Amino acid sequence: MAYRVPLESGAEPLPGYRLTQVLGKGGFAEVWEAARGNEKVALKFIPSSNTSTTVKEIKSLSAMQRLDYPGLTRMEQITCVPGYIVISMELAEGSMLDLLAAFQEEYKSPIELKLLLDYLGQVAKSIDFLNSRQHNFENRTVGFQHCDIKPSNLLLFGDRVKLADFGLSTPTYAPNNPVMRMGTIDFAPPEMHRGILSEKSDQYSLGVTYYFLRTGCFPFPPPENNSFVRSYSYKRPQPDLTLVPQQEEGILYRALDLDPTNRWSSCTEMIRKIREVHGFGLSGSGAGAGKTAYGSGKKSTMMGQSIQFTQIMSSPN
Ligand SMILES: Nc1ncnc2c1ncn2[C@@H]1O[C@H](COP(=O)(O)OP(=O)(O)O)[C@@H](O)[C@H]1O
Ligand SMILES: [Mg+2]
Repeated sequence: MAYRVPLESGAEPLPGYRLTQVLGKGGFAEVWEAARGNEKVALKFIPSSNTSTTVKEIKSLSAMQRLDYPGLTRMEQITCVPGYIVISMELAEGSMLDLLAAFQEEYKSPIELKLLLDYLGQVAKSIDFLNSRQHNFENRTVGFQHCDIKPSNLLLFGDRVKLADFGLSTPTYAPNNPVMRMGTIDFAPPEMHRGILSEKSDQYSLGVTYYFLRTGCFPFPPPENNSFVRSYSYKRPQPDLTLVPQQEEGILYRALDLDPTNRWSSCTEMIRKIREVHGFGLSGSGAGAGKTAYGSGKKSTMMGQSIQFTQIMSSPN
């Protein structure tokens, strides 16, 4: 294997950045907290060896970096060190997956519904921004599908949540686009098994994400072998949505429709419909209805950091 800079506490794999602690290891990347002077940042190390894929990946990451939208985790630098593409980005307090784990540990329940819908309302808006065909990429007007919407890619910054991990983000030029199969199997839409990316693929993954954060369960088991079924005739089984009230089931069935054209017109519309079922009305600007989500109070550990719950739990329903 080609030489890779060592990643360990105290190391400085990128000049000016000292690694302090590992925040997580996903399928193939590692994310570290690092100190840059007095400032803390996150560094993501994506192994790379093949230069043509590296160039392609850096190109699409740079396009995402230029979007500069408040609901997208800010990437400061995208660069290469031996063996890795490195992205320096703003440091989050944790992800929605960590928040679920913290709720389950403290309260033996999934995330409180109003808080979840406030956060996912923000996520929906950011996905809609990304998805709509309004961005410039290689002199064409394109939409972007994130292609990896899932709880660990929704990062928390106080009462704001931002999309992260744009490594798989792909431009779309039409309602359906041929692509290489990619993403995370539990959240991937059925059309991805057929090598098709639709302009509503992210909505499907948001539907699964919502159900998972709401109930702690997936709406269906993963396909056999836990990998993409390389078949043009593959259909995901009908989802089992019995853990949510019937009115919500109908809304989610539509987001999880096998045919992307039958899904909601936008992610915002889907979340709005769920809010209406619960009489929540339009979402406020931040989660926790204008309150600070992390006030003083009971602490729970979240990825080596701390999240505080009193005010989260006291936000009105
Ligand atoms: N900017 C960031 N700030 C804080 N934590 C982060 C940041 N980016 C990623 N992480 C954490 O690092 C973990 C690993 O990330 P990643 O390699 O993308 O894998 P995955 O998203 O599949 O878990 C994530 O679960 C997330 O909690
Ligand atoms: Mg991630």
